[in-house]
Amino acid sequence: HYFKLWGGRFVGDTDPIMEKFNASIAYDKRMWDADIRGSKAYAKALEKAKLVTAEEKDYILHGMDQIHDEWAKGVFEVKPGDEDIHTANERRLKELIGEPAGKLHTGRSRNDQVVTDMRLWLRDAISILKGNALQLITTMVERAAVEIDVLFPGYTHMQRAQPIRWSHWILSHAVALSRDVEQLQEINRRVNVLPLGSGAIAGTPFNIDREMLRQELAFDDISINSMDATGQRDFIAEFLFWASLCLTHLSKMAEDLMLYSTKEFSFLTLSDAYSTGSSLMPQKKNADSLELIRSKAGRVFGRCAGFLMTLKGLPSTYNKDLQEDKEAMFDCFDTVHAVLQVTTGVVSTLKINPSVMEAALSPDMLATDLAYYLVRKGVPFRDAHGISGKAVFLAESKSIPLNQLTVEDLRTASPLFSSDVSAVWDYSSSVEQYSAPGGTAKSSVAAQVEHMRTWLKKQ
Ligand code: ARG
Repeated sequence: HYFKLWGGRFVGDTDPIMEKFNASIAYDKRMWDADIRGSKAYAKALEKAKLVTAEEKDYILHGMDQIHDEWAKGVFEVKPGDEDIHTANERRLKELIGEPAGKLHTGRSRNDQVVTDMRLWLRDAISILKGNALQLITTMVERAAVEIDVLFPGYTHMQRAQPIRWSHWILSHAVALSRDVEQLQEINRRVNVLPLGSGAIAGTPFNIDREMLRQELAFDDISINSMDATGQRDFIAEFLFWASLCLTHLSKMAEDLMLYSTKEFSFLTLSDAYSTGSSLMPQKKNADSLELIRSKAGRVFGRCAGFLMTLKGLPSTYNKDLQEDKEAMFDCFDTVHAVLQVTTGVVSTLKINPSVMEAALSPDMLATDLAYYLVRKGVPFRDAHGISGKAVFLAESKSIPLNQLTVEDLRTASPLFSSDVSAVWDYSSSVEQYSAPGGTAKSSVAAQVEHMRTWLKKQ
């Protein structure tokens, strides 16, 4: 006996457990504003099609504005039987303005309504996330600019590889995030398409001006096929995948920072604002912010995989399975929204320890440079690599650092070594060799900073 949009052919009540199972209002009420925007635009299209009078349209618009106020003030009352946000708003409209409310749904279905709401909501969400990501990237780029001179060990396979600039490391993550921003914009092109006017499956039989609806709701395009428009959720899947990839990038960065913040590394210290303590061990300062950033990637992957699983094998057009799109979308938005902000906080407040970072460099990390020394004297790289490897072995067998080998020692590996080899044992000149675009030389990192600043200005 509650208000039901579809009650006509039914006798008796829905099982209360089914009622709850079927309902999406608990979460889709987040789209209240999008739902109202869509309905107001639709009321105007109905007037243009002469399906409602100017007066009826005004009643609808006015009623919708009142409903908007109620939601905005937090006083909108969800009633039993309000299955979803569409039902709730229409039920309330009827209470407020009476009969003209019954005309609002003419030619419209919740199938084109819900996907219109989703697209409106996601469009706004994407612009928020883009803002968060740009803020993080800006923070990283400016930090790289300030700390451009700091050197520290670069790792491959988690083993000490070559000396690099700390700023080079920061930018490596900023550049990945810039691709996330670009991909988000790409996705937005496909999100920003108007489905309204597609009806339940077949389209609209009335003179609904879809081009007018597109303009009213500021969509870039109108959907081409009503079955595709109501039945596909690929734009949601794309967003969930985007969230997964973005958090994969951030979890990689968090993992490095976590390692660098351990006592064993002591390259950097997290701000207390982003750390927590132990209830048992008084000395503990845990990088909970970074651990949560890392873990949220798993959560978001789960949403993405779960929703793809829901989509797989669905028959054409709208099926109630599609209602599952919302919690995945909201949860991924909330998660990425929080992660981006916390990461910005972590990155902007952590303190680096440049002397420890530079002291962590060791001569063995210059073994490649030792080979390059020979390459510059005409030795083919493959041979130079072998000779330098012999020198490493020699130093290890003598239990001395590589740079403590005498020229005589080195000459046992190659006669081309002479006293000028001492110039190899300098970390600053080592990194300065990498001056080609993308390298770790100061000039090249400065160019990366400029590149990123220019990119940021264009966003
Ligand atoms: N709450 C529904 C959803 O989110 C709205 C669309 C319902 N359409 C239908 N034919 N039952 O998908």
